[in-house]
Amino acid sequence: MDRILIRGGNPLNGTIHISGAKNAALPLLATCLLSEQPLVLSNLPHLADISTMAHLLSELGVDISMDGGAGNGGNIGRVFRLDAGPVNSTTAPYDLVRKMRASVLVLGPLLARFGKARVSLPGGCAIGTRPVDLHIKALQQMGAEIELDEGYIEASAPDGLKGAHIVFPMVTVGGTENLLMAATLADGETVLANAAREPEVTDLANCLVAMGAEIDGIGTDTLRIQGMKTLHGAEYSVVPDRIETGTYAVAAAVCGGELTLLDTRLELIDSVAEVLRNAGVEIVEVDGGIRVRRSDDGLKGIDVMTEPYPGFPTDMQAQLMVLMAVAEGASMITETIFENRYMHVPELSRMGANVNVHGASAIVRGRSSLHGAEVMATDLRASVSLVLAGLAADGETTINRVYHLDRGYERLGEKLSACGADIKRLKD
Ligand code: EPZ
Repeated sequence: MDRILIRGGNPLNGTIHISGAKNAALPLLATCLLSEQPLVLSNLPHLADISTMAHLLSELGVDISMDGGAGNGGNIGRVFRLDAGPVNSTTAPYDLVRKMRASVLVLGPLLARFGKARVSLPGGCAIGTRPVDLHIKALQQMGAEIELDEGYIEASAPDGLKGAHIVFPMVTVGGTENLLMAATLADGETVLANAAREPEVTDLANCLVAMGAEIDGIGTDTLRIQGMKTLHGAEYSVVPDRIETGTYAVAAAVCGGELTLLDTRLELIDSVAEVLRNAGVEIVEVDGGIRVRRSDDGLKGIDVMTEPYPGFPTDMQAQLMVLMAVAEGASMITETIFENRYMHVPELSRMGANVNVHGASAIVRGRSSLHGAEVMATDLRASVSLVLAGLAADGETTINRVYHLDRGYERLGEKLSACGADIKRLKD
């Protein structure tokens, strides 16, 4: 298996183009199932998870043609033309769902358009048990009959889904997305209350509107959807990746130097920018993106809690911990979204970070001088935190299980080495 070798200590200077957001692209790809007409998506990142979703869609019968991107530093993302006219299966098999939980996002659209769907239950994963009970309950409220049989969600709604008033008992990004897609083809009005407001949900809603859906309250926690008989084709460009943006902002802060992050928007990372500024990072808006550097006064520890959007994202928690490890003073990070999202802690400790976890909180005592080590992680954001620690550390760091990074960071090594990082991929 490939590994990444980093020789730390170099400042980062230059420009990084931010890719389209993985977590927006995945539901947007599933959206094509709602219409007989083609959906053309651009600014898609070139990532393993996107290929997995494309594979699943083609297994269902979606005809996909691809077009590479050029220009913009060779990085305008890929363009897919997805034609779900010929769909001839409504089964998402275990083999594909097990590879990627987001496969469950085909459930809502399949059920809404075809009146049935058979989707493997995703099961737990490294960051927690992550059930899909809220997706299922909400679809039942819309009249779907759902049984769990031999590890599969067997859903049917022979007379179509009916509009309903759904109040999510907790904020769920995937649940909101599944129901939002399903509601666009339901009979009557659906209200989704306590809905997720993440920019990826907003991106999905905007794409659905481009396909002819009627949705009020986009960007708020109450979405009101008037069901339509059909949706039509559209062209849509994926929102920039706010987590990739935040990750490179932390890279600039922990390594020193100055990075300009283009093809992104400050407003997408409001809460992250506020936290980073409080921790001593300078972030200014520039034409087409942001510029980031560590302030001359240095980094300082602060307390942060992860929360649903617009709060500080759980997907930035591991990266922030690296920043806190090298900052002045102590800080406390509290993870409120997932119950087991500290797998990076033992690995960061092996690199010299001083972190103690007590339940959902991690106390980080700063000013650690990080040193290189051989490390590995069990999920995407934990893995990238090890890359950040390796870049900031003295000596050599080898990161195993690189495939996690391939799931969510497009051309990570290339983007960083163009800015002065000593980072190499070792092929096995
Ligand atoms: C999305 O996952 C993201 N994935 C995650 O990004 C992200 O960490 C998460 O939202 C939170 O922001 C994609 O968008 C593909 P949730 P999702 O439903 O939709 C519980 C990354 O690194 N819950 O908002 O699966 C759940 O267990 C990934 O890119 C239920 O109990 O997250 C969790 O504790 C990892 N029952 C909380 O809600 C349900 O039916 C939030 O999960 C659904 C969720």
